[in-house]
Amino acid sequence: MQKELILGIESSCDETAAAVVRGGREVLANVVASQMTLHANYGGVVPELASREHLRNIVPVVRAAMREAGVGLSELDAVAVTEGPGLAGALLVGITYAKALALGLGKPLVGVNHLEGHIHAVLMERQGIGNGEGEAVGPLMALVVSGGHTHLYLCEQSVGGWRYRNVGRTVDDAAGEAFDKVAKLLGLGYPGGPWIDELAKHGDPKAVEFRFQPIKRREQKRDEKDRDRASGSTTRDDATGQSFDFSFSGIKTAVLRYLETHEMRGAAEARRVALGRALKERPGLRAAEALTKMPEQFDRATLDLIASFQAAVVGNLLKQAFGAAEAHGVRSLVISGGVAANSELRRRFTAEAERRGLQVAFPTLAMSTDNAAMIAAAGWGKYVAGAFAGDGLAAAPQLRLG
Ligand code: KG4
Ligand code: ZN
Repeated sequence: MQKELILGIESSCDETAAAVVRGGREVLANVVASQMTLHANYGGVVPELASREHLRNIVPVVRAAMREAGVGLSELDAVAVTEGPGLAGALLVGITYAKALALGLGKPLVGVNHLEGHIHAVLMERQGIGNGEGEAVGPLMALVVSGGHTHLYLCEQSVGGWRYRNVGRTVDDAAGEAFDKVAKLLGLGYPGGPWIDELAKHGDPKAVEFRFQPIKRREQKRDEKDRDRASGSTTRDDATGQSFDFSFSGIKTAVLRYLETHEMRGAAEARRVALGRALKERPGLRAAEALTKMPEQFDRATLDLIASFQAAVVGNLLKQAFGAAEAHGVRSLVISGGVAANSELRRRFTAEAERRGLQVAFPTLAMSTDNAAMIAAAGWGKYVAGAFAGDGLAAAPQLRLG
């Protein structure tokens, strides 16, 4: 008898995760083993270390999820695993394990796009988003914004499941990457997003003006450089004629230049050393505590710079996301990925949606960052549609959605 149970497995970056989800929406267990403190020592994810940790964690994490769900392996209906995008070696650990498990149990295997997973993190929690009263599910605009991705997807539900169209993407750094890189320039902890989020509350967001240049469309680039059309990396949305792409490498350089011209680099270096020492003593140290315990490290100019940087990035995400929603006549927005945890982003997106009379939905904090419940949820639709992966399922580090 079918129990509608899917075991989800995620290992695309620095989290080894397993979850059991019933019917694509009821989370029975969601276990995440984070490698954050390990990679924090290096200021970023080290791929070789990530693979090794996944190997070490995958069996205990799956066992813990099954135990927590109170479910036996034989009761599962399918195994869903992230096939990409992500780090090749990291993905391989999850895929190899999932394949072996599915084969051993004689259950179907489903390959899931990590980005689709992030979107389903919200859809599973907010069933009915995009539903007007008594209407069919309308199209949604999804902003997936994390350390590796900044994408806008037009999502539509059709007979065979969800269909996605990528209507905007970053042409260089991801938004979360900008948070991490700017935090590093300022000598803050890793990952930088939560540090900047907390510290920005104590600064003036209007103190420093950051501008985002409009991103050139493919045509403009071609005219200027006579490039081949296919080589242009930006997305021009044919339906609207507007570009909803992002670029975050410029603001990182602008912050660096600001630090140099305002002679703030010495203070940033001193902060890096002092915080490094404090973090060694207490690896879980958070920004709020650091601010209280070592206020001398957080001068006004730095706090203002942090607040201004965050306000600019959130403002740009907001402008592009709502612009894309309007251009496509979409009434509902879904925001997902690590940066969706940002408190200013949540506040401003909620206020803007209210002002425009749109629906907006965020995942709970646990569902914002990488987890396997979202993979199981996205895998459910594929399982129902009979879209199973064959023996050839392989890691797809560059996998795209839409
Ligand atoms: O989704 P995620 O866990 O992993 C990826 O798939 O990348 O996202 C991690 C990213 C990091 O860049 C981190 O700095 C950022 O999300 N992040 C935040 C916040 N919490 C995490 N960025 C801004 N504000 C936050 N509160
Ligand atoms: Zn992710």
